[in-house]
Amino acid sequence: MTTTAKLLFFAGSARTGSHNKKLAQLGAMIAEVNGIPATFLDLGDYAMPIYNGELEASEGPPENAKKLKTVLEAHTGVFIASPEYNASISPLLKNTLDWLSRVRAKGEAPLEVFKTRVFAVGSASPGGMGGLRSLITLRHVLELGLGALVLPDQFAVPRAHDAFGEDGHLTNKEAQERYKLLIQKLARAAHVLHG
Ligand SMILES: Cc1cc2nc3c(=O)[nH]c(=O)nc-3n(C[C@H](O)[C@H](O)[C@H](O)COP(=O)(O)O)c2cc1C
Repeated sequence: MTTTAKLLFFAGSARTGSHNKKLAQLGAMIAEVNGIPATFLDLGDYAMPIYNGELEASEGPPENAKKLKTVLEAHTGVFIASPEYNASISPLLKNTLDWLSRVRAKGEAPLEVFKTRVFAVGSASPGGMGGLRSLITLRHVLELGLGALVLPDQFAVPRAHDAFGEDGHLTNKEAQERYKLLIQKLARAAHVLHG
C-alpha cells in the first residue's frame, strides 16, 4: 500500500505481558508488513503523575506528556488498544489523555493534536466480550472530550490469554485479517484527511 500515513500504536496498559500491548505491537507489525510506516509506543516509558490541578499550576504538564505529544504529532493515525476496567477505560489511559489535553504550545488551538489526527480503537480482555465496553467510554472521551475523529470500525480480542501465538500473531486468522483491514482503513483515512 502506498501511503503518506504514519501510524502510532499504543495500549492503555503498561503491564508486562499486557494483552493490549500485544494487540498494539501486532498492529504495528501488520502495518509495517503492509507498507504502512508504524510505531509501537509503550506508555510505561511515559510515566506521569495522576492529574492534579495544583501540580499543573505549579509545574505545568509533566515532561513525559510533552514528549508524548511530540510523538503523536509525528503520526497522522493513532490506534489505541484499551483494557477494560469495570466497563470503562484504565486510569492510565484516562490520565495520559487528560495530561495530553493540557499540553498546548504558544498560539496552538486547543486540542489541536487530537483534532488533526484520525483514531481507531480496539481492546483485548480475558473476558468473552474482549473489552468492547471500554471502547464506548474511549470513544466518548476521544470524540466528545477531545474532538477527535474516530473510525466507526473497532476490533476486540476476547479470551485474550489464549488468542496470541508465540510469534505475536492472533491464532484466529480470520480475526487477524479483520484487524489488518481496520489498520489499512485507518491508514487510508489518515492519508486522505491529513496527507
Ligand atoms: C480493576 C479491574 C477491573 C476490570 N474490569 C474488567 C471488565 O469490566 N471487563 C473485562 O473484560 N475485564 C476486566 N478486567 C480484567 C482485564 O481485562 C484484564 O486484567 C486485562 O488483562 C487488562 O488488560 P492488559 O492485559 O492489557 O493489562 C478488570 C481488571 C481490573 C484490574
